Amino acid sequence: MSTTTTSPDRLAETRVPISDVIAGRWSPRSFDTESALDETALVAALEAARWAASANNTQPWRFIVGRRGSDTYRRISENLLGFNAAWASTAAALVVNVAEVETAEGTPLRWAEYDLGQAAATFTLQAQKSGLHTHTMGGFDVDAVRRAFSLEERFVPVTVTAVGPVGSPDALQSEVLRSRETAPRSRNAFEDIVLVDE
Ligand SMILES: Cc1cc2nc3c(=O)[nH]c(=O)nc-3n(C[C@H](O)[C@H](O)[C@H](O)COP(=O)(O)O)c2cc1C
Repeated sequence: MSTTTTSPDRLAETRVPISDVIAGRWSPRSFDTESALDETALVAALEAARWAASANNTQPWRFIVGRRGSDTYRRISENLLGFNAAWASTAAALVVNVAEVETAEGTPLRWAEYDLGQAAATFTLQAQKSGLHTHTMGGFDVDAVRRAFSLEERFVPVTVTAVGPVGSPDALQSEVLRSRETAPRSRNAFEDIVLVDE
């Protein structure tokens, strides 16, 4: 497993130093289709997700993992919407992040989507640490993915994460995507997100 190095212009600007993994994580649209997927890195990311915190340790997350070339990958990829359909099929793997919003006995799991988000975020950081990049998407046909994998109503596909070694911006077909790939990264000001800091 290698560690991803992120070019200085993609690094997060922070007022005090933060973990290299967090500062270096960003969401590319160009993935390297020549390099093989590091299987250990993918398993490590899933293990990291497995060990995320969750309400009452309910662990209301499931993952559908498709490697490029597989039928699972095709079924995820063909349900991506808009621009996502254009770029995401270069990723080495596509992972559907699924929330279990109700137990098999019918009890609502109130924090399911929050917990899934934590697991998915942990996945992305471990992937980054292991030399893979990730790009999460909300733009996909939820009902079509549900049907494609015969998910019960109590399971909600929430996002799809594209995973793989990062590629060159020049490999992107459209000028719009190429310019987004190199556009400066931005965030709301620190003062705007910390409401009270006494
Ligand atoms: C829940 C969620 C949904 C997203 N949906 C899309 C999407 O459909 N298409 C896309 O290109 N990026 C999508 N993104 C990626 C965000 O646009 C990206 O994370 C954000 O612009 C910050 O950029 P960064 O991840 O490079 O820091 C999504 C991210 C999240 C967390």
